[in-house]
Amino acid sequence: MNILITGASGLVGQRLVPQLKAKGHNVRTLSHQKGKGDFYWDREKIDTQAFEEVDVIIHLAGASISHRWTPTYKKLIHSSRIDTANLLFKYAKDYAPELRTFISASGSSYYGQVTSDRIFEEEDPAGSDFLAQICVDWEKAAYQFQALGTRVVCLRTSMVLSQQGGALDVLKKPFKVGLGANLGTGKQWMPWIHLEDLCGLYIKAVEDDTIKGNYNAVSPAKLNQDAFNRQLADSLNRPFIMPSVPAFFVRTGLGEMSDLILKGSRLSTRKVEKSGYRYIFPDLKEALTDLI
Ligand SMILES: NC(=O)c1ccc[n+]([C@@H]2O[C@H](COP(=O)([O-])OP(=O)(O)OC[C@H]3O[C@@H](n4cnc5c(N)ncnc54)[C@H](OP(=O)(O)O)[C@@H]3O)[C@@H](O)[C@H]2O)c1
Repeated sequence: MNILITGASGLVGQRLVPQLKAKGHNVRTLSHQKGKGDFYWDREKIDTQAFEEVDVIIHLAGASISHRWTPTYKKLIHSSRIDTANLLFKYAKDYAPELRTFISASGSSYYGQVTSDRIFEEEDPAGSDFLAQICVDWEKAAYQFQALGTRVVCLRTSMVLSQQGGALDVLKKPFKVGLGANLGTGKQWMPWIHLEDLCGLYIKAVEDDTIKGNYNAVSPAKLNQDAFNRQLADSLNRPFIMPSVPAFFVRTGLGEMSDLILKGSRLSTRKVEKSGYRYIFPDLKEALTDLI
C-alpha cells in the first residue's frame, strides 16, 4: 500500500517506517521541518504530490507534551495535532480519491487523568481535563475522514517504552544513580506499551480492514507506579530505597502537567485482544529486559 505518514521523524515514526517498508509498503513522509521528510508541510499548505495514489494516511504529528504547559504551549499541543489533521482532510478531499484508511495517534489520557478502580473501555466517556479534551478534538478531526468513505482508526496510546529516547530514558536516570523514588503516593496506575507492540498495532490497523474505531494502545499488564518502579530498579540492578517525593513538590515544579505523573488510570485491552492482535511484550519484566 502507499502510505503517507506525518511526524515520522519522532520516536514512533522512526521505528514504524522501516517496519512498514520491510512489509512491502511504499512509505512517504510528511515533515514540518524542511529537508527532513519526503514532503514538507506548514500550517497552511502541503505539497499535493504527497497525496498521489495514497491508500493510507498515518497521522503521528504533534508537539511534545513534555514541555511546561504555558497557555502558548498548550495552543501548540492542540494545533500541531488537530489543525494538522484538518489540513490533511482538506487536501485528502481533493487529492486522495483512493484513500482507504486514516489512522491517528490519540492518547490514553482520553479518559482523563484520574486514579480510580475503573478499567476504562473504549466506549467510556472522555475526561474533562486538558489532555482529555485534546484527545477528544484529535479524534473528532480524525473521524472527519469517514465522510470520504475512509476507514478511521484512533490508537489511544499510553507511555511508550523504547530503547532510545522517550519516557524510559527519563525514568531510568534517577534509578541508575540509586535515587529512583515514587512521585506522590505511588498508587497511581501507569499504563505503558512497548514500542514494538505499538508499531505492531499500527501495522495491524494498516493491513486489517476489520480494525475500525478507537483502541486502547496499552499493554495488558496493569501496574501502579510503585510496582513499575520496583521492576525498573530490579531490571537495572539498583536498589529501590528512596522515600517517595511528596506530590506537593512535583506540583510546584511542574504545574498542571504534574497530573500526568501523579494520577493515572488502567485501560482495558479487551478490544485489542479480541481483534486478534498478540502482544509481543505483555509483561513489564520482559519488556524491560528487552529494552535495558
Ligand atoms: N511517545 C509516547 O509515549 C506517546 C504517548 C501517547 C501518545 N503519543 C502520540 O503519538 C504520536 C507519536 O509519538 P512520538 O513519541 O513519535 O512523538 P515525537 O517523538 O514527539 O514526534 C512527533 C513528531 O511530530 C512532529 N511535530 C513536532 N512538533 C510539531 C509541530 N509543532 N507541528 C507539526 N508537527 C510537529 C515531528 O515530526 P516532523 O519533524 O517529521 O514533522 C515530530 O518528530 C504523537 O502524536 C504523540 O502525542 C505518544
